[in-house]
Amino acid sequence: MTKEIKLTIDGQEIVASEGQNILDAALENDIYIPHLCHHPDLKPVGACRLCGIEIDGGKMTMSCMTPVQDGIDVKTDSPAISQARKIALELLIADHHMDCLACAAASDCGLLDTSAYLGIQPDRLARLRPSDKGLPIDASNPFFQFDPNKCVVCGICVRTCDEIVGLGALGFINRGFKTVIGTFGNKSFVDSICESCGECVVRCPVGALAPKRPQFPAREVQTTCVYCGVGCGIYLGVSGDKVVSVRGDRERPTNNGNLCVKGRYGFKFINHPDRLTTPLIKKDGEFVEATWDEALELVATKLADRKGEQFAALASAKCTSEENYLIQKFTRAVMGTNSVDHCARL
Ligand code: FES
Repeated sequence: MTKEIKLTIDGQEIVASEGQNILDAALENDIYIPHLCHHPDLKPVGACRLCGIEIDGGKMTMSCMTPVQDGIDVKTDSPAISQARKIALELLIADHHMDCLACAAASDCGLLDTSAYLGIQPDRLARLRPSDKGLPIDASNPFFQFDPNKCVVCGICVRTCDEIVGLGALGFINRGFKTVIGTFGNKSFVDSICESCGECVVRCPVGALAPKRPQFPAREVQTTCVYCGVGCGIYLGVSGDKVVSVRGDRERPTNNGNLCVKGRYGFKFINHPDRLTTPLIKKDGEFVEATWDEALELVATKLADRKGEQFAALASAKCTSEENYLIQKFTRAVMGTNSVDHCARL
């Protein structure tokens, strides 16, 4: 069992878990500490220098890199902390394209949120040399694009691909002020080993990695992805009678919110005009629409003629466990054969 650690943050006594960092412990207790390079799914790296705190009146330290300790007294703000944060953030903003109105992340941007929290003043920014980077946007991926001009080099995308996806498709290119995020060999996303799962896109705190055609649903429906037998939890975003978005369900232990490319982006088939919505029966060499009763009647008649070794069933990973159980039961008990297999085994 994980040991409980008691500490005080801004005068509030909290209980954290041994090994937890102070930033996560504070956020879990609704105590906000500015941060850009930290994500609770990833190992901390202390890159953005925004999450500074003071412990027992000592020197400033990064809360994302500091584990909780019994009995410590943490201050999340002071004149020295505030000044250090503002300078760190102003330097990030100065190196960032601020076309916020045209940015897909404008309604959910870590840089804008942190700027508002710290009260960044435009006149202070005016004294800094603005970014002159005019780096090309990589729009090669069919689902998302990468705009390096908006990147704050927090490395969340790199760590996501490495620690969560296990692919390592992204890394840091160049050094110092010229550092950018790129794929191995600096190839376009579509020519790289990227599998388009979009895990980096959902964690990017700014608009650098952003969906190409973001649509905002009117409501969401909690359900299970139908692509394979893993059973990932998803929320389908619905607008009118159309599915317009998918996001992972972080509470579902099968996937903890993570999705593959099919689960996250492959939902267009749901409302596609080519999708079959009624059964078709071949008559005189042509498929014609039929009712479900007609189709079931035909299938039942044909199956009744082919019991025993003339019959074999191939089940699908798209079916639920219960449906796959029924297929094998039907094959053995009704059709009288053990010839049953499953596409996931092939
Ligand atoms: Fe701690 Fe970035 S969140 S340094």
